[in-house]
Amino acid sequence: MADLLKDKIAIVTGGAKGLGAAIAVELASEGAHVVVTDVDGDGARKTAEGLLHGESAVCDVRDDAAVAALIEDVVARHGTLDIMVANAGIATVTPISEMTLEIWRSVMSVNLDGVFSSVRYAGKAMAATGGGSIITMASITGLAGSPLIAHYAAAKAAVISLTQTAAVEWRGHGVRVNAIAPGFIGTDLVLDRASQFEQGLGIDDFGAVIDGAQGRLGEVGDVAPLAVFLASDRSRFSNGSTYVVDGGMSASLV
Ligand SMILES: NC(=O)c1ccc[n+]([C@@H]2O[C@H](COP(=O)([O-])OP(=O)(O)OC[C@H]3O[C@@H](n4cnc5c(N)ncnc54)[C@H](O)[C@@H]3O)[C@@H](O)[C@H]2O)c1
Repeated sequence: MADLLKDKIAIVTGGAKGLGAAIAVELASEGAHVVVTDVDGDGARKTAEGLLHGESAVCDVRDDAAVAALIEDVVARHGTLDIMVANAGIATVTPISEMTLEIWRSVMSVNLDGVFSSVRYAGKAMAATGGGSIITMASITGLAGSPLIAHYAAAKAAVISLTQTAAVEWRGHGVRVNAIAPGFIGTDLVLDRASQFEQGLGIDDFGAVIDGAQGRLGEVGDVAPLAVFLASDRSRFSNGSTYVVDGGMSASLV
């Protein structure tokens, strides 16, 4: 336990499991009080119970009014909001030819609209209370073509753009906004879909393809420390940036 984020108030969306849960643990281990939120209230509560300083709340990021109310409540009770991690995300494995507008919108509503609401209300609150750090969860799929996940990849590309614009709009208000773009990390989001990728891509072993491109499947612990850095003053000169953490996958053409 260190105190890089001592007395900081943080919100993590999608914190019930996976990357969000790991980031919540890492922020709290540096002294932050973390409000773990998720559409899965039980999962959020379990993550929060494991934290030194934490609480949980049910919040579906597709519900703009609920996101606004969550942030208003946190600021009313704690006097400030210092850190927002807009992490909640979903995916389906669907080729474009079979991707109905309904499937497209279902992913966009969480991965883009949900991030928009989280960024918008957090930035407004931070600007009014002396500044803060917003971290959006993008992906390397937002930087290159990503077969079978066109909706997901387009949302992540848009998240990178939103991150840049929000950083510029708020740079005079002490609010920094940066994105994390992980490669393939071994959470349910990826592991539950490995066989669908194998089927859709016509390959035998999705894990072997990932190993070839990244060296190995990423772990949540490969990503979470970066969130601490971006949340803290150590990253004070970083704004509007996208930080890739992918074992070198996006650096290589072969
Ligand atoms: N796992 C990876 O390889 C990877 C790579 C790049 C980016 N990401 C991104 O990281 C983020 C977290 O992904 P993960 O891998 O931990 O996935 P995960 O499936 O393990 O966890 C996602 C969490 O988001 C929550 N969630 C889903 N819809 C929600 C909603 N409408 N409102 C609030 N919470 C909701 C889920 O309940 C779950 O707890 C996502 O934005 C994802 O796109 C993941």
